[in-house]
Amino acid sequence: MTTEHFIPKHSNSTLTAGSVSWQSPSNIALVKYWGKYGEQLPKNTSISFTLSNCHTKTKLNYTPSNSNTFEFEVYLDGQRAESFEPKILKFFERIEVYMPFLKQFKYKIETTNSFPHSSGIASSASGMSALALCLMNLERLVNSDITDEYFYAKASFLARLGSGSACRSIQGPLVVWGEHSVLPGSSNLVGTTLPFELHSNFKDYCDTILLVDEGEKVVSSTVGHNLMHKHPFAEQRFSQANHNFEKIIEVLKSGDLDSFMEIVESEALSLHAMMMTSHPYFILMKPNTLSIINKIWEFRRQSGSKVCFTLDAGANVHVLYPNAEKEQVRYFITNELASFCENKKYINDQVGNGAFALI
Ligand code: DP6
Repeated sequence: MTTEHFIPKHSNSTLTAGSVSWQSPSNIALVKYWGKYGEQLPKNTSISFTLSNCHTKTKLNYTPSNSNTFEFEVYLDGQRAESFEPKILKFFERIEVYMPFLKQFKYKIETTNSFPHSSGIASSASGMSALALCLMNLERLVNSDITDEYFYAKASFLARLGSGSACRSIQGPLVVWGEHSVLPGSSNLVGTTLPFELHSNFKDYCDTILLVDEGEKVVSSTVGHNLMHKHPFAEQRFSQANHNFEKIIEVLKSGDLDSFMEIVESEALSLHAMMMTSHPYFILMKPNTLSIINKIWEFRRQSGSKVCFTLDAGANVHVLYPNAEKEQVRYFITNELASFCENKKYINDQVGNGAFALI
């Protein structure tokens, strides 16, 4: 597959005004993407659980226009959100070659997140995925003979150009991004689902997101990715991630939960170790992040539970556990972890099956 594959042959629209709406989930990486090159291409392979309750709903209203410019307005929860518009403009400019009909319309983009804006949960993955799917829906209206396979692959391709991890927020329950020899069909251009039967241990895995810090992140992911360019440990990190990916693929087939926990926690700590050892260095974890990690380890030692944690680029902790342990782990979270969260807030989520169109 090359980028050429996503350039449409014809793109003249006869559409009148209308709207399309999609709901897209967030995702949590098990093997992390941290470092990119070229046009949003990953330095290593990553894999994530698609979530379910944490999602974005986006409605794309389109009206034919002759202005030959990018004309759009973004609304978050019904309020104009001009601060989002430069990022969307950059996205439109980047994808225009793949969507030559873009300037034939003007747009009103209305979006809402299921999670609070200030929760520290990145909305870029679910947000860019939902917008990419709306745009693909529009492309399908312009050109009705595209297949479902092409539709989802191109949605992932476009989402990636908006935010790397967004390409893993189209389908579920697990999505891989980045070419790897152990997984035929894996690609740097698009996220792909697993080409084998997932062990039943992982089919309904749970993720409770502990909202440790609801503030804005001090360093954005984009800045963090860039700091990998001259990072002293970059090459070791990329090969570590690719090796962990190889190991987790075996685990997802065998159902080995001990190995799963070891890989996932090591990945989370390696990600943060990269932040602490870049120039300039920075720390996104908070004291309560570490308290929670220690509590989880203590609980695991005492109970034999298979609960583990992962982190994204922030202070929040994702607590991962098998559905079979749901009752016991949720009791532990309420009684022992919630007090480390800002305003005792957390979100119970679980592995989901990806985005869908809203009527
Ligand atoms: C730590 O996808 O947010 O969550 O491509 O610059 O938009 P951009 O970065 P982004 O980075 C996500 C990094 C991560 C790990 C991951 O999701 O794999």
